[in-house]
Amino acid sequence: MYPIIRMRRYRKDSNIRSLFKESEIRPEKLIMPVFVDETEKDKKEIPSMPDIYRYSLSAYENYIKYLEEIGVKSIILFGIPAHKDETGSSSYDSNGIIQKAIRTAKQNTDLNVIADLCLCEYTSTGHCGIIENGYVNNDKTLEIYQKEALSYADAGVDIIAPSGMMDGQVKAIREVLDKNGYTDKLIMAYSSKFASGFYGPFRDAAESAPQFGDRKSYQMDYHNGDEALREIELDIKEGADIVMVKPALAYLDIISRAKRLFNMPMATYSVSGEYTMIKNAVKSGYLGENIVDEVLTAFFRAGSDLVISYFAEDYIKSHGKH
Ligand code: PBG
Repeated sequence: MYPIIRMRRYRKDSNIRSLFKESEIRPEKLIMPVFVDETEKDKKEIPSMPDIYRYSLSAYENYIKYLEEIGVKSIILFGIPAHKDETGSSSYDSNGIIQKAIRTAKQNTDLNVIADLCLCEYTSTGHCGIIENGYVNNDKTLEIYQKEALSYADAGVDIIAPSGMMDGQVKAIREVLDKNGYTDKLIMAYSSKFASGFYGPFRDAAESAPQFGDRKSYQMDYHNGDEALREIELDIKEGADIVMVKPALAYLDIISRAKRLFNMPMATYSVSGEYTMIKNAVKSGYLGENIVDEVLTAFFRAGSDLVISYFAEDYIKSHGKH
């Protein structure tokens, strides 16, 4: 009448518990997003994202040296350009803000430098591609993405992360890289990126909100899981080295399904809105700080190999160098 199998044996004390710990956050698997702003003189806090800043190029240089010092291994860069136009031409300017930021990071640190590749920060329309008759033209956008990818590679980027959700973007970028001898540049594809309300704070941060309409004709419908897996499968066939699910918290089922289906390195992006929710709840004292550990652990437990999170800096700082 008593339990024969007692699960509580596994939990007796912290020494015993550590024997059975199944998943763990490895600081080197966390990637810190960094905003570099061509219009900024120093640094400015993003109002909806406490403790996250937009940096001028020189403030950025100090910041990434500091990140390296505390043990951060990888950053993902986002640029806010001084000039926007309909085709997002400053996105592939060899002296553009991201190109400069890549060179600065490669010259001053040993960080893995990942660059987000999109157009929404660079177009006057705020869309992730070229608009024709009120609609984003897929294939013309790919031509711009190729120029952008090549300019990132020329600047010395390690990993290119296309986030625009155009069909064929991974193949287009792989081709232009290979043709120019950049066979060793990795592609981290934002494969299943959903049209999500969780990007709100980022769009303030990067000044990249669409000026009309929304992104639903290219980003995914959050009702669809099977379709997300097809997106991931296609990116693998097109030559992606890492595939990503984004956002993270509301999409753990997709991460878990994809990890089981494909033998691929998987990343997940815990986006600005997720950061804002948790950060503000902790700041106001409604939730304890340990919630961050719980949430980051969930991403790894679900099957993610790499996690992009605005908590990366804090987490790594408080858990020491690895
Ligand atoms: C660019 C891009 C976005 C994010 C990453 N890359 C914004 C968007 O798609 O609107 C969002 C990141 C975040 O919310 O933290 N397309």
